[in-house]
Amino acid sequence: MAKRSRRQFIRKIGLSTAVISTVSSTFGADKRSINFLRRIKVNNTSEEINIALIGAGGMGTEDTNTALRHKGIKLKAVCDLYKGRLQSAKQKWGEDLFTTDDYKDVLKRKDIDAVIIATPDHWHKQISIDALNAGKHIYCEKPMVHSVAEGVELVEAWRKSGKIYQVGSQGLSSLGNEKAKTLLAEGAIGNLNYAEGFWARHSPTGAWQYHIPGDASQKTVNWKKYIANTTKRPFDAMRFFRWRNYTDYGTGMSGDLFVHLFSSLHFITNSLGPNQVSAMGGLRYWKDGREVPDVLLGMFQYPETDAHPGFNLSLRCNFVDGTSGSTYLKLVGSEGSMDVKWREVVLKRNKTFSTGDPFAQAKAAESGTGYADRKKMLPPEEIVYKAETDYKGAHYDHFGNFFRAIRTGGTVVEDPIFGFRAAAPALLCNDSYHKNSFINWDPHNMKVIN
Ligand SMILES: NC(=O)c1ccc[n+]([C@@H]2O[C@H](COP(=O)([O-])OP(=O)(O)OC[C@H]3O[C@@H](n4cnc5c(N)ncnc54)[C@H](O)[C@@H]3O)[C@@H](O)[C@H]2O)c1
Repeated sequence: MAKRSRRQFIRKIGLSTAVISTVSSTFGADKRSINFLRRIKVNNTSEEINIALIGAGGMGTEDTNTALRHKGIKLKAVCDLYKGRLQSAKQKWGEDLFTTDDYKDVLKRKDIDAVIIATPDHWHKQISIDALNAGKHIYCEKPMVHSVAEGVELVEAWRKSGKIYQVGSQGLSSLGNEKAKTLLAEGAIGNLNYAEGFWARHSPTGAWQYHIPGDASQKTVNWKKYIANTTKRPFDAMRFFRWRNYTDYGTGMSGDLFVHLFSSLHFITNSLGPNQVSAMGGLRYWKDGREVPDVLLGMFQYPETDAHPGFNLSLRCNFVDGTSGSTYLKLVGSEGSMDVKWREVVLKRNKTFSTGDPFAQAKAAESGTGYADRKKMLPPEEIVYKAETDYKGAHYDHFGNFFRAIRTGGTVVEDPIFGFRAAAPALLCNDSYHKNSFINWDPHNMKVIN
């Protein structure tokens, strides 16, 4: 990778990309400055797109409401396995909505152009493949697949389909992630050598102990369909409404949360992914019968490529965190660091200068070892890039990119190949944790190396 000089960065800093403009105001005697990020209006046609939702829970509802904020989007049908969700869908989006508990009824409809898939993770692959074969465009929630073994089949189905498929790690469509990508390319932090990210939570809902509705039973839940592609078990409301805690349906902390950090990191660095994955963790507090840890640490080796130097990544998730703070994602380079959020990037640049220390020089001459200059560091200067208050957010932009690609026959960044490369190292954390060993991954060919 070409070395970027400080001068090169200074020349470029503040230049806008196609979609970002910055206005700078400096304060604190050039120690800290603030720049505002703005989405420049993109000319988007409002040609009508009819959508359907499959999996109308928390995220499916949020996805649909976000999609409907875009011009020309009409919701035609909703599918869910719990009757309460279908009733609530009609209340929210209109009594004339077509509702069903069989996603194939949705896929048969000719009037539907695109589907949002927001079921638990164990259904993503099969519904995606069936929807692609039925000629639908897809917005599928992360992680794209439930296991690494499922990835290639879905990528192949998408390649054959010619349809737009967007995976739902919305953060990478944000102004914050886009700015971080530009800054890294401009050499703002020098050569990347390390990245870290974490999620910290400390509440029952944050730790996946969701409300179980009073009417939950086999009369209101289509349990047979829910477990049709996994282990057969008697009805269990916990396994249906708190699915994240069980490996038949969920993908643990890494599949649920690390995957967002991989998506953002790979977008910012143009990386294909790590070649070594390791994870450790434990169940420390939420001992409610769950099969997954509530504290998880992951360590990853990123090999040098044409896009970036070799670097290391450290990720952690803690659902028993008394601070309950969340710092998201930090990238560290030879000349500084960036704290990257969806609405903000805080860039810290270190300045070093040569000491030219005469005492050290004399000592070196005396011992005949030669003089090695010890650089001194000045306190870092800080530049904040912040989205304007009217910014509509990452989620809105992610759907905007999806609809634009459908209308223009374009492409999206987070397609199945990108989605699989973000999901795989996250899912391999589970394998590493359970097997108590490192996993070697070939990010280019998307294969585990045994
Ligand atoms: N992008 C994000 O920030 C984000 C945030 C939260 C969740 N998610 C993802 O969204 C998905 C849904 O998560 P959630 O929190 O909304 O869960 P949820 O339990 O609130 O919703 C899931 C819904 O799917 C329904 N369902 C289950 N199997 C189905 C099937 N075969 N066909 C149709 N409906 C089915 C359930 O009845 C439920 O209403 C997960 O993959 C999760 O990882 C993404």
